[in-house]
Amino acid sequence: MNIAVLGTGSVGQTLSAKLVQLGHKVVMGTRKVGEAQSRTTKDGYGNPGIGEWIKSNPAVKLATFAEAIAFGQLIINATMGGKSIAALKAGKSGDLAGKIIVDLANPLDFSKGMPPVLIPELCNTTSLGEEIQKAFPQSYVVKTLNTMWCGLMVNPSMVGGGDHHNFISGNNPEAKFEVRKLLSQFGWKDEKLLDLGDITSSRGTELILPIWLRVMSVKQNGAFNFKVVS
Ligand SMILES: NC(=O)c1ccc[n+]([C@@H]2O[C@H](COP(=O)([O-])OP(=O)(O)OC[C@H]3O[C@@H](n4cnc5c(N)ncnc54)[C@H](OP(=O)(O)O)[C@@H]3O)[C@@H](O)[C@H]2O)c1
Repeated sequence: MNIAVLGTGSVGQTLSAKLVQLGHKVVMGTRKVGEAQSRTTKDGYGNPGIGEWIKSNPAVKLATFAEAIAFGQLIINATMGGKSIAALKAGKSGDLAGKIIVDLANPLDFSKGMPPVLIPELCNTTSLGEEIQKAFPQSYVVKTLNTMWCGLMVNPSMVGGGDHHNFISGNNPEAKFEVRKLLSQFGWKDEKLLDLGDITSSRGTELILPIWLRVMSVKQNGAFNFKVVS
């Protein structure tokens, strides 16, 4: 499948590499291609700058957000949550219509340091997932994977033998079915995918972030996940 991965950070890089490995064609979206290519220094977590990463992953094409959106039959939103709608709006009118948008972004504000806070306008009585769905009513937004570190998104068996949960929210059952198929390619067992209902349920999964961040700071490692036991 032709997949657009919007976002050049560690999530975009991790997802793109896995998708290529699975045989998909991937175009990664950024604001300015030349500027992204010049980013060669590592981030604070040791991830390579996108300019270095793209050189060692030649199967992934780097393009503008608009070009990536036009290319993708399915769109993955891996942009900074507070800027996701702007990134998606870079697409030409109609280029997102009828497409699935897999939204794994979190609406976090890092401007006051760590830990970041949820952006007030995008939580509690709404969520980023819902606001994307409202902004693109002809697309099918499926919120998933946002509650874990990106290494685990594409390799769930890395912890606990894969015995932990990933949530799914979205209004369209067929879109959720398609995303479940993609998640199964990533290694997710179907019974570990917990469908929480329509896109309003992404209010709950985005609100997991404050506790996720606190656990991460205590463990000093993002390789953990939540499991629902009943
Ligand atoms: N890191 C994880 O393990 C993890 C886990 C779960 C969910 N998430 C979520 O996944 C998303 C991506 O995280 P990340 O750490 O890989 O990257 P990030 O630093 O949060 O976001 C990077 C992307 O956001 C874009 N961006 C920044 N400012 C923008 C603006 N003003 N307008 C349009 N686009 C803008 C950047 O575009 P340029 O390429 O042009 O710079 C870049 O592609 C975030 O929402 C994060 O909360 C992350």
